[in-house]
This record gives sequence, C-alpha cells and structure tokens, in this order.
Amino acid sequence: MAIDLTWLLGAAFIASTAFFLIVHKSKRETVLDRLRISRRRVSGAKTPPRSLSPGKKQVQGLEEANYLETFPPSRRHALAELQLPGIVGRSTDPPTDWNKAMLPMTKSYLEASPSSFTPCGFSVEEIKALGDFPDYSALSGVPLPRPYPEFDIHKALPRPYRPFRWAYHQTMSLTKMEPDWWLEIESTYADRIQERQGLLAKHGEAVLQALPGSELACKELMEMALQFLCARYPHYFRLDKEQMIFHNDILKTETDLNATEPLHVLFNNIPEDFAIMLRDEETGFYLFRAGIICSSLGWNVASKIGMRLHEIHAPIPDYKEKMQFSMDRYFAKKPTDRAIQRGSWGLEVDQPLYMPPGHPHEKHREHQMDNLDLSRCNLRVDWQTLRRLPLSAGVVFNFKALFTPVEEFRNEPYIPGLLLKVLNEGKKSLMEYKSTWHVEHVVKPAMERFHKEQVEKGIVPEDWEPHTLEESPWYPGWEKKWHQQQGF
Ligand SMILES: *[C@@H]1O[C@H](CO)[C@@H](O)[C@H](O)[C@H]1NC(C)=O
Repeated sequence: MAIDLTWLLGAAFIASTAFFLIVHKSKRETVLDRLRISRRRVSGAKTPPRSLSPGKKQVQGLEEANYLETFPPSRRHALAELQLPGIVGRSTDPPTDWNKAMLPMTKSYLEASPSSFTPCGFSVEEIKALGDFPDYSALSGVPLPRPYPEFDIHKALPRPYRPFRWAYHQTMSLTKMEPDWWLEIESTYADRIQERQGLLAKHGEAVLQALPGSELACKELMEMALQFLCARYPHYFRLDKEQMIFHNDILKTETDLNATEPLHVLFNNIPEDFAIMLRDEETGFYLFRAGIICSSLGWNVASKIGMRLHEIHAPIPDYKEKMQFSMDRYFAKKPTDRAIQRGSWGLEVDQPLYMPPGHPHEKHREHQMDNLDLSRCNLRVDWQTLRRLPLSAGVVFNFKALFTPVEEFRNEPYIPGLLLKVLNEGKKSLMEYKSTWHVEHVVKPAMERFHKEQVEKGIVPEDWEPHTLEESPWYPGWEKKWHQQQGF
C-alpha cells in the first residue's frame, strides 16, 4: 500500500479538487466549505514506483503562485471567551501590519520578540499569556470529544473502516472530521506503544524529529492531544495541571510535562503518526518541520523532513500539473475549525507496520506465495485526519494504521463483492500502487466465495451492482457487529 499517498491527505482529494475547481470555479468556495469533493477518477492516487526516491527535485513553473499575503482565518475572537488576565479586552482583530512582524518559521517563540505574530494573527506575548493547556476547543473551534465511559481498552476494537469505493468518481473520499474520533485507541494500544518505542530506539531521528521553530506547534499539538484523551477517556487519562504531570492508567505511567519534549509525550502515549507542516514566512508555503512517523511504508521522517509539499510529493506523477496548485492553496487557507478525515487502504501479508525503503517485508510484494494462507491476508487501513493548530497555524496530518484479517469480510454485507469489483476492475495504476497483486491469488477467490455465500443467504441481492455503500467507510449493520465483538 502506498503510504506516500497518506501524505497527500489523499493526493486523490487534491486531484479531484483541482479538477473540480477548474470545472466549477464559481462553486469552489462552497465545495471546499462542505468538503463534498466528488472524486474525479483515481488518477490522483497514482503512485511512483517504490524505487523512486523522493529527492529534492525543483518543480519548474507554478512559481508565480504566491501565498505571501495569504493567511488562514484567525481565531483571535476566541480570546474573548477565555477571560485571561492580560488578554481580556484585546482587540479581536490583530493590529494593522501584524503580518509585517511575522514570527520566523525557524525561530522558537520562546526566543522571539513578544510583538511578533504567528500566521494565525496571535502575538507571541498573547501566546505566552495563554500559558499551558489553554482551552483548545475554544481556540480551534473543534469541540472536545464526548466522554466514552463504557470504553474498555482491553476489549476495544477500532471502528471497522472499509473505505472501498466504486466507481471512484461518484464518491466522496473526504469527510468532516468527527471530533469524537480524532484519536482512536483500542486493544492493541499498549503493544503498539511498545513496538513503536522499539522503532524509536532503533531508528531515532528517522522516525521522530522536531526542527528549530517547531516548538510552539509541537507543544500545541501535544496539549490538544492530552486534552482530547482526558476528555474522551477520563477513566484512563488524567492531567495534573498544577504539577504538570500526565497520568496514563493504561500503561501505569506518569509523564513529567516540565521535563519531557512534547513529541515524546505524544510518542509515549498515543500510538499514531503525526506530521506538522509550518508556514514559511518568506514564501507563504508550508514545510514539514516536525513529526513522528512509525507506520509508513516506503518513507519516514528522515526522508521528508524540511521539505515543501511539492517536494514531498515529487514522486507522484502529475502532482505538479494536477495537484500542486490546489494543495498549496488548500494549506494556505485551511480554516482551523474545518478538520477533515479519510481512509486509504491496501492489502498486506501479516501486519507490516513500519517499512522503510529496502525493508525485508517488501519482498512479499514481488511474489504470489504458493502456500499463502488466507488467515495471513490483512486489510490495512490508514485512517487519516488533517487539521490546523489554532495558535501556531501549523497543519497537522495524522494517521493510524489498522489491520483487519480479510476473513472478517465474510459476514460484512456487500464488502466481499465490493472489494472483488475493485480488485478485478480497479484502474491498473491504482492497484499497482496499492500493491494488492501479491495477495490477489488468495484474496480474490475468497471474496468470490464470500460474495456468493452472501447472495445465497439473501444478504446481498443477486442483481446487486457493486457501488460505494451509503454507509461508507463502513457497511450496513457494522455497529451491531462491532459492539458485539467488543462486548460494549
Ligand atoms: C512543574 O513546574 C511547575 C511550575 O514551575 C511546578 O509547580 C511543578 O511542581 C513542576 N512539576 C514537577 C513534577 O516538577
């Protein structure tokens, strides 16, 4: 599966947007507003051969596009709600010419002039006055999640994402982020944390880095994430703001927030990947400045850090022509309160989590193993979200890899038939990109069998034409099966 794509918030999203914007110019604001982007075919998901290294090829042209004067909508009006001494009574508009005193992307806010401003129009002075753990739901406009008291980490299963689509152009692959599900933990939590800690010990900066100037964004992301955990799973997570200690009752750990780097706080408590893009004040474009990437196939932090969006995506064919403009523009303007989510999928032998280029697991993709057992074939879904941080204006791309044995599809209405359709008739470039070939000799016959069985049982009508399900990215009745399997 082509995880480079994850980078792209779904390159497909951007491709379809680009197409849409050209065809329906007058509607473009509405389109982005609603995030109802009808996908243009699958071409955006084309991916480069794995051997292509990302490189730092300079893309020619398009350099006239300029985002120097483009800023995301400020959420300064939220300051009024926060009732903080020193801040109360401040104008909700930033002072005139605020953007002539930008906090440089490479400079720590801790060392910057108090009267320098982030791209969201907050001054360093204001940010310092907000202190630790300000109310990010007010600041971001994305509500905190509702508490989930019945949640049991020992039994919890991820929601059964099945983001299969047919035909591609008819469907929307992106939706508004569900605030309750920004971060999702489940029964593999402790094991995954441990596995990832092993990866960090072994690979260091290849999987975790924060470049100078990313201090504020990293702190903000960490604080938002901890606020989320404490609100969502109050029976497992607790923040002592006085002592600045974060209590994790699943792992039985306490994190000293005075003494732990924000990305490490995230790393030790949330088994998900995060990439932070920051605005370069000299160009208005966004660069990958900090992140944790432990579940990528074919790339890692080391191979992409410091790059601009188009450099990160350089290996994707047609990116420059079809996506670069929309992508840069989307990042430049993305409102903080409009977070989005999507899933991308592939099929794997076993559960390869981290596979930098040259990893031994890659060899599985080159053969159709004779004795491959169906039980070793898994769907891998990367569930992704994209949101802006309210103060630093950093854009955070986050994803988590989830594995499900394809045998599960047997009792999931329509899923075998739909997957079969995509495997049989999906665009060649897409299927190559997803690297499904190495398991197709086993998965296709199984899906045929399951589909036939569902038709015989009357679960799926005989004349059903495979198409994206209304319940997508789930399937009819998924909640019942999911609750039964979890036991809550
Ligand atoms: C963290 O710093 C705060 C403020 O300086 C202090 O009150 C608190 O005791 C510190 N916590 C720990 C665990 O040292």
